[in-house]
Amino acid sequence: LVDGELKTWTGETSQVYSTISSTEPYKPTLLGTIPTLGEKEALDALNSAVTAYDKGQGLWPTMKVVDRIACMEKFVTQMKTKRDEVVKLLMWEIGKNLPDSEKEFDRTVDYVYDTIEDYKQMDRDSAKFEKHAGVNAHIRRGPLGVVLCLGPYNYPLNETFALLIPALIMGNSIIFKPAKFGVLLLSPLLEAFQNSFPKGAVNIIYGRGRTVASPIMKDGRVDVLALIGNSKSANALQNVHPKSNRLRMVLGLEAKNPAIVLKDADLDLAINECIAGTTSFNGQRCTALKVLYVHEAIVDEFNKRFSEKVDALKFGNPWEDGAKLTPLPEPDKPAYIQGLIDDATAKGAKIINKKGGETTDNYIFPAVLYPVTKDMRVYEEEQFGPVIPVISFSDIEEPLDDMAASNYGQQVSLFGKDIKTLAPLIDVLVNLVCRVNLNSSCQRGPDVYPFTGRKDSAVATLSVHDALRSFSIRTFVASKDN
Ligand code: G3H
Repeated sequence: LVDGELKTWTGETSQVYSTISSTEPYKPTLLGTIPTLGEKEALDALNSAVTAYDKGQGLWPTMKVVDRIACMEKFVTQMKTKRDEVVKLLMWEIGKNLPDSEKEFDRTVDYVYDTIEDYKQMDRDSAKFEKHAGVNAHIRRGPLGVVLCLGPYNYPLNETFALLIPALIMGNSIIFKPAKFGVLLLSPLLEAFQNSFPKGAVNIIYGRGRTVASPIMKDGRVDVLALIGNSKSANALQNVHPKSNRLRMVLGLEAKNPAIVLKDADLDLAINECIAGTTSFNGQRCTALKVLYVHEAIVDEFNKRFSEKVDALKFGNPWEDGAKLTPLPEPDKPAYIQGLIDDATAKGAKIINKKGGETTDNYIFPAVLYPVTKDMRVYEEEQFGPVIPVISFSDIEEPLDDMAASNYGQQVSLFGKDIKTLAPLIDVLVNLVCRVNLNSSCQRGPDVYPFTGRKDSAVATLSVHDALRSFSIRTFVASKDN
């Protein structure tokens, strides 16, 4: 979708493989092909976005608030009619199970409606007149310019929209490139974008990062890089921008969220929450629990019951009833996870669950590793997949020191009962991460809460409320009393 037109393409195409088939969950199946655009087409999209913004062509950035809201309402109404198609593609393309795929769609529709409401409120609050020292000001929030959006494969709809929708409604013009997996699922929505917004306001292109996103950044006219994914891509794109010092960034990046299970924790509750936190969508979430610190007094009991519960999780096709573990979209992920397991076991850890590490083509069953030490790769790297390191501690300073030394700072889960122990600990933890989950696993939602991180985990804040501010700036018209 470039300059308001759905373009056809006869050049190079990539084949898109599903990770699943109807009979064998782990066999890749060809789903379709998708155009792999080159530099020229990428720059066409950039020109379209720049024209829409700078020249007001299509009047998107200068459009009245009420009209911009009408465009967004038209879009979401059309989007809702595509629920079945998009949910199927979420299952087929990235292997997300049916309940989570439906939840992703519905949550995204809610995200659009909540953004509209918050935008109305922001306009009421921020569009105001002020007067100080004889200078009158009419203040309001305005767009930043051209935004390049890149979303992740694990939430190809929801996290894409968490960038795109707030950036768009604020009047920015957008170029969006989907991740490598989950590229097809925006296809049912392209016409809705085309019908609802003025030409050039939203441009959607396909291709590899280096042939599509890099040339756009190199050109120097992108004002905001909005990316949810890994810091390597974000850094590479930032570095090729010729005026990177004035580039604004909205980034959701890696995390290594720990759980800390204190010795007085409700063990059933802690185990259930740690199961959800480590295994939902096979651990392919930035908010997943990626290391479990368990007090030495309860670690044996925890390990036994936790491992049994992991082994009891059902693996199957995403549409199968009760399938909690599903095929992995990245073909090289099982080998990567196996590498982490081999490294840890060579350095003294054991796989403590019976099924841990069982493989079938592009799938590997979650392995619970204990005892994990700091010299192991699984301690250091963001595994983003089915492997679960467990560490025991005797003194709370041990996990706290590790968190302070970590490059990441998104969230933590804290399990315990004694409020006299918990309260001072929470005061320390909130300064190491941005969200402390008390007796519950880490998660991003509900989407009205700030979603961000310290250190290498994030730049700016994403949530319904915060993202509108991340993608806008306060501007004003001033006049003097005469
Ligand atoms: O990959 C990171 C996502 O933001 C995780 O979101 O906690 O809703 O699964 P979630």
